[in-house]
Amino acid sequence: MPRTILVTSALPYANGDIHLGHLVGYIQADIWVRYQRMRGATVHYVCADDTHGTPIMLRAEKEGITPEALIARVHGEHLRDFSSFGVAFDNYHSTHSSENKAYAEDIYARLKASGFIDTRAIEQYYDPVKQMFLPDRFIKGECPKCGAADQYGDNCEVCGAAYAPTELKNPYSAVSGAQPVLKTSEHFFFRLSDPRAVEFLREWTRGSNAAGTRRLQLEAANKMREWLGDEGENKLSDWDISRDAPYFGFEIPDAPGKYFYVWLDAPIGYLASFRNLAERISGIDVLDFTDANRVESSGIDMVHFIGKDILYFHALFWPAMLHFAGYRTPSQLCVNGFLTVDGAKMSKSRGTFITAQSYVDQGLNTEWLRYYFASKSNGTMEDIDLNLDDMIAKVNSDLVGKYINIASRCAGFITKRFESRLGQTDIQACSEFSAALETGGIAQAYDERDYARALREIMRLADLANQYVNDNKPWELAKQQDASERLHVVCSTALTFFRDLTRLLKPVLPALSAQVEAFLRVPAFDWPTSWSPLPAGHEIANYQHLMTRIERKQVDALLEANRASLAPANDEEAGSKVASSQQRHSQHQAHAAETEAAQTLDLEPTISIDEFTKIDLRIARIVAAEHVEGAAKLIRLSLDIGEAAPRQVFAGIKSAYDPAALVGRMTVMVANLAPRKMKFGMSEGMVLAASDGTGATPGLFILSPDVGATPGMRVK
Ligand code: MSP
Ligand code: ZN
Repeated sequence: MPRTILVTSALPYANGDIHLGHLVGYIQADIWVRYQRMRGATVHYVCADDTHGTPIMLRAEKEGITPEALIARVHGEHLRDFSSFGVAFDNYHSTHSSENKAYAEDIYARLKASGFIDTRAIEQYYDPVKQMFLPDRFIKGECPKCGAADQYGDNCEVCGAAYAPTELKNPYSAVSGAQPVLKTSEHFFFRLSDPRAVEFLREWTRGSNAAGTRRLQLEAANKMREWLGDEGENKLSDWDISRDAPYFGFEIPDAPGKYFYVWLDAPIGYLASFRNLAERISGIDVLDFTDANRVESSGIDMVHFIGKDILYFHALFWPAMLHFAGYRTPSQLCVNGFLTVDGAKMSKSRGTFITAQSYVDQGLNTEWLRYYFASKSNGTMEDIDLNLDDMIAKVNSDLVGKYINIASRCAGFITKRFESRLGQTDIQACSEFSAALETGGIAQAYDERDYARALREIMRLADLANQYVNDNKPWELAKQQDASERLHVVCSTALTFFRDLTRLLKPVLPALSAQVEAFLRVPAFDWPTSWSPLPAGHEIANYQHLMTRIERKQVDALLEANRASLAPANDEEAGSKVASSQQRHSQHQAHAAETEAAQTLDLEPTISIDEFTKIDLRIARIVAAEHVEGAAKLIRLSLDIGEAAPRQVFAGIKSAYDPAALVGRMTVMVANLAPRKMKFGMSEGMVLAASDGTGATPGLFILSPDVGATPGMRVK
């Protein structure tokens, strides 16, 4: 029985550009969808923009447009980016849609009816100027633990401490700069701590889906056990699902001025997108996909592809919400790790915060990236490193050198010598090749999302095919008078191998495969039950070169373009998003997800020149720089400012700089800042760096003096 699967990818926030980090998960999902379809499954692959919440509301306000106008524009940009990378959703919808509203209201009403909604008054910071409650990420102040300035309301980027916004010292609103006041308001809670929910989640975690696959990867299941605690224990707290006006979202029925929190209606957007799609497909009954009572009989799976930072929402809140509202729960979560570039977090200053659009604009082939990401994806939650030199080497040697090379060495002879018609194939060689193919476990590797293993096997087959060509040397046969028939056989056999390799690569390289289908004049490749050779007499088209090599200079230009395109507006999402992935799943992330911070250009109060001269700024030479063990954000700097011994300063710049690249650089430091005792030692000053003002990393830039300045010079 072919499977029917509803596949979803995480809904990107509607206020940021798609970048290569996002693409890891979307490409993994798209490959899986394409593979399942080749196997005959019916797959509905949907996504949407995640459009609600404070950050989007404020972003629109800042741009002087309505949230509706903002999300409409971004919708177009996101869809364009996904299409460029071959990520082919059947529907790309929006959480700001009638379908989503209807589902959100229905789920909420059912949860309420089954006793899962509570109301409770809570006290929260309120911005008296902007007249709004402030999400944690919009409150800043001094860290209660280490005293570092300008830290977010939920955790400190300098010492890593997690705390409540009310613990911050000298808090201020990142929206208006005003001092926030505590204010009470009534909130709605989803009772996740209800013993029924805990019991259900324990059971759900252990489950598997219709195809017998475990619901959760091993690492995700372990996380769940950590979150749920031991049998008999209850570590879950109720989830605050409402926000007060002003808010961009859906107003809660019968609760004027109260809105559903963005994370309540975000995953519901999966169902909304599907329902919107289903209206255009005949013969679909949406209830077969959504109703808990129909799942068993329909056998339909619902599979979510997400990044590891949003596991908490998808593995706890989401299944519990669905279950207690009588909806079917997810069959499987496929969780991807985070992207690093050349071993470090994506960084605007290094140009490694690469947008999807810039990659396309620089003329790089999007299937190079699909191939590279696939070659690094093993179906676990491990982070993935985009090593640029490795990507160049892999694409050039595997794809161009091994795979494309087979066709480029043989196709011309068929065209020139045999009027584009194939001949007999080498029975022995073909049966050896298909035996190797069938025992390689490639199908299983794809099914398990271990694309790295699939590609290793496929490249092993490409080696066999090249070996065959090398052994039979068509270019020499072509020179011999009486070897024409042999030449025909060798080239036809090699092209059969090439066809098979293309089939195997099709989930990863759909555009290239389509070109090969046209070149070989064959119908769209599926996953055959038997791998028979191309038939003698079959006419092929003229060979046109299928893929070029990547040049290092193209990659350098890409980095340069992303360095140059620094826009403060983008730094916000960049920083907060990337920086907080780790924190978001180690802490209780219920609110930390509202990551996008507001951009403010609120100047500090005016000071006199005398006040300014109190700050003693000196030119410093960085004589040593190293990572600090156990500190996620810090680099330990030794700064020469012309004193007998260098000063030790801990700088929260790890996200943006490689220590090695700092050594020898000149910069500017505050030399008369009171020394501060930190967990890792004394910090004897501060290095100046520019950032977008949100404190988000990696939008961070150390200052440098002009050439000629020497250590110790005063800066005024
Ligand atoms: N809007 C939420 C998801 C709601 S799903 C109901 C969100 N959006 S996001 O735009 O921040 O991220 C979209 C997806 O991209 C998520 O799966 C996230 O984990 C993933 N990634 C974002 N940055 C990433 C990397 N740097 N690396 C890998 N995946 C990354 O979260
Ligand atoms: Zn701190």
